[in-house]
Amino acid sequence: MAYSEAKVVVGGLAHIPIVVGVFWLIQSFILRRIDANKSSGEGITPSQAVAPSSQSAEQKPLIKPKRPNVPVNTYKPKTPCLGTVVENYSLLKDGAIGRVNHITFDLSEGDPLLKYVEGQSIGIIPAGEDAKGKPHKLRLYSIASTRHGDNMAGNTVSLCVRQLQYEKDGETINGVCSSYLCDINPGEKVKITGPVGKEMLLPEDENANIIMLATGTGIAPMRTYLRRMFEPAERNKNNWNYKGKAWLFMGAPKTANLLYDADFEHYEKTFPNNFKYTKAISREQSNSKGGRMYIQDRVLEHADEIFALIENPKTYIYLCGLKGMEPGIDEAMSAAAAAKGINWDELRPQLKKAHRWNVETY
Ligand code: FAD
Ligand code: A2P
Repeated sequence: MAYSEAKVVVGGLAHIPIVVGVFWLIQSFILRRIDANKSSGEGITPSQAVAPSSQSAEQKPLIKPKRPNVPVNTYKPKTPCLGTVVENYSLLKDGAIGRVNHITFDLSEGDPLLKYVEGQSIGIIPAGEDAKGKPHKLRLYSIASTRHGDNMAGNTVSLCVRQLQYEKDGETINGVCSSYLCDINPGEKVKITGPVGKEMLLPEDENANIIMLATGTGIAPMRTYLRRMFEPAERNKNNWNYKGKAWLFMGAPKTANLLYDADFEHYEKTFPNNFKYTKAISREQSNSKGGRMYIQDRVLEHADEIFALIENPKTYIYLCGLKGMEPGIDEAMSAAAAAKGINWDELRPQLKKAHRWNVETY
């Protein structure tokens, strides 16, 4: 090759990095524009952030739904507020197993007033001392009343408490705090802390669909949601007129153990297009395998309808009650999802990130 030809070839080759560099600059400029649009949420409403059947697990929801401004830890364990018991009555019917009470406290003595929203919990410090002579530690209880309280005056809080009882070495052991609460009388003072918890808050969207899976006292937060949605006094007071579809799956050992059953039956009759109530009565009904009927069996029975709802980005799921139910629910959701060609292990974290899968078990 002549000297002048070599010069042309080398000169041409020398332009390659320049051309590549220019392409790289153009590409990164375009990508930056796309990212900027995504993070500003252009064209996306919060509830559309997750599209269950099409997104991969790696894709993050772009925007989380707005959370209301919720009060937290107004009262701490060292400086609890004093509540006065207003009422304490059994929620069970004749023939029920165990003991579950609805207990209401007047909070007006507290300054500031302990305020809370639906889905939060409070702490109770039982009177007395433990075996080491130290004050008892607080126990958490899900709040069972709406922010307005059962009397709508905004100065009470209610709980739904099951007395813990178990056998040990032939002796019946009673749980410290749950027995203290179930035995308490109107007029007595109780040390209260909180409120705590942001996991179980309701979305603000009046058109949201709410699927509720509860066992036993896990019904407490669900009662607050349903009162807010369907109690006339609540609907009048809140500027929030629920228009979505709410579906409660409730697990109890016997019909006599169903909690707040008459209220929920009434809501279903009054709002047939907005509320569905499905019961799993473990010791009276059998599942398809002949075993005890649990809420996960009901989930499987209604898998198609449930997943049709979940495909709607406005659908939120709440799970509350026995910790032991989590694996069963997970298994049922996996099977139901698989039948629709959806991978539950991928979908669940997406729903969780978008605050659409909310769990509080104990
Ligand atoms: P404790 O005297 O504290 O006894 C409990 C201990 O007994 C256990 O830690 C364990 O060591 C032992 N024990 C328990 N069962 C057995 C067994 N079968 N065999 C051997 N040992 C055993 N409860 C409600 O009733 N309603 C609610 O709405 C509610 N909401 C809650 C919300 C949250 C977020 C959490 C974390 C818990 C909630 N609980 C609720 C449970 C509640 O906090 C207490 O744990 C429950 O009332 C028992 O407390 P206790 O003081 O009566 O029992
Ligand atoms: P069972 O006790 O018959 O096995 P409660 O708190 O009033 O006892 O109600 C809890 C309900 O949850 C009962 O019907 C109980 O059934 C049921 N349950 C118990 N274990 C599980 C589980 N692993 N998954 C779902 N439900 C359960």
